[in-house]
Amino acid sequence: MTPKEPEKESNKPSTDIIIDYYNNIAAEYDHSRFKNSYGCYIDKHERTVLDKLNINPKQALDLPCGTGRLLNYADYGCDASEKMLEIANGHWPGKNLICGDARELPYEDNSFDTVITMHLLMHLDNDTIYKIMKEVHRVLRPNGRWIVDAPSYKRRKLTNCKSENWHGGSSMSIADVKQLILNRFEVKSVHGIMMFPVHRIPQAMRKPSCNLDYRLSQLAPLKEYSSYLIYELWKF
Ligand SMILES: C[S@@+](CC[C@H](N)C(=O)[O-])C[C@H]1O[C@@H](n2cnc3c(N)ncnc32)[C@H](O)[C@@H]1O
Repeated sequence: MTPKEPEKESNKPSTDIIIDYYNNIAAEYDHSRFKNSYGCYIDKHERTVLDKLNINPKQALDLPCGTGRLLNYADYGCDASEKMLEIANGHWPGKNLICGDARELPYEDNSFDTVITMHLLMHLDNDTIYKIMKEVHRVLRPNGRWIVDAPSYKRRKLTNCKSENWHGGSSMSIADVKQLILNRFEVKSVHGIMMFPVHRIPQAMRKPSCNLDYRLSQLAPLKEYSSYLIYELWKF
């Protein structure tokens, strides 16, 4: 997991800062993140992966559910931002949505078959990621799955990409993920998302390029050089 060196206390991303940020941008989140060509691309390919994983929404928690983008895959949602949750409730009035912190989940042990965690770990320091991993493990039933994404450490190293703040502050290699989940989960499958910046290709060429990009992102060992990876982890 990067950063490998211990962070100074003052540099630690505070959960409060992250939640304030999402409370402030909640009203424009759907539009600003997922209505542009990049957002449409990643949304489509994340769904291709999630569809393949056969999730039963009745037994699934979306953590954090944000504004509810992926709540078609889960009947339960949890997010620490009240404003993001308000929007999710507007989109999905029938779902069970709770405001809560992923480090201390408001659910009993063994509550879900699947927990989906998209676009959260990228913001967090190693200690917070570890706490969340333990909480997800606690609320999952035996043989349950944690479907979680993380930016690719190898891709960032290759492209010399350095994040200046907490927003995309962390990245992991597959080896880092295995170390994180040691003795709690097993890696069942890994799916790459976005090898090339295909969202910048002219519209006429985009569809075939996107399909090719998606296929390349699924090939081992190339997949670890995708922008980020979705992991299917089994609790044992
Ligand atoms: C980039 S959004 C992702 C939302 C959704 N998973 C998606 O893919 O559209 C990140 C979300 O994480 C939530 N969040 C950040 N830290 C959290 C924590 N410790 N516990 C619960 N939610 C948290 C934020 O409020 C925000 O809604």
